[in-house]
Amino acid sequence: MFTRIHHVGIACRSLGGAVEFYESAFGLTVVSREIIEDQGVHEVMLAAGDGSYVQLLEPLAQDTPVGKFLARRGEGIHHVGYEVDDVDAALASLGESGVQLIDGRPRHGSMGTSIAFLHPRSTGGVLTELVQRDVYRSTTKATSRDS
Ligand code: CO
Repeated sequence: MFTRIHHVGIACRSLGGAVEFYESAFGLTVVSREIIEDQGVHEVMLAAGDGSYVQLLEPLAQDTPVGKFLARRGEGIHHVGYEVDDVDAALASLGESGVQLIDGRPRHGSMGTSIAFLHPRSTGGVLTELVQRDVYRSTTKATSRDS
C-alpha cells in the first residue's frame, strides 16, 4: 500500500535558517514554497533525490498544530509522509483495519498532492501522512534557490 517515503516533515521555528542549512550543508534544492492555510504552515520542499523530499514546516501561528508541536517538543521531525497510489483507497483500508484517522477524507497538500494524516496514537507515536502525487495541479510556482 505504501510505495515509498515521499517526504519527512521537519518542524522549525524559522524557515530562513533551516532552508539555508539544508541547502548549504546537505546540498538539497528548494523545489516548492507554499502557505497551506488549513494546516497553518508555511512550508518549503527540498528535493532529496528522485521523488523524495524534506519538508520544512514553520507555523503561521502558535495555536496551530505545528506551533503547538514546537512549544511541546521543540524543533525536529514532525511526521513521515508515505506515497500511496490511491489515498482514498488507502484511507478506507486503514480505517477498516482499525487505524485511527485524523483525516477521514483527503485534503490538498503541497505540489498538487492529495494527502491525509493518521493519528500517532495508532502508529507507534509517529504522525503519519499519506501522499498521492499529481492529483491537483499545483497553483503556486515552484521557486529555485536562484530566484
Ligand atoms: Co507532510
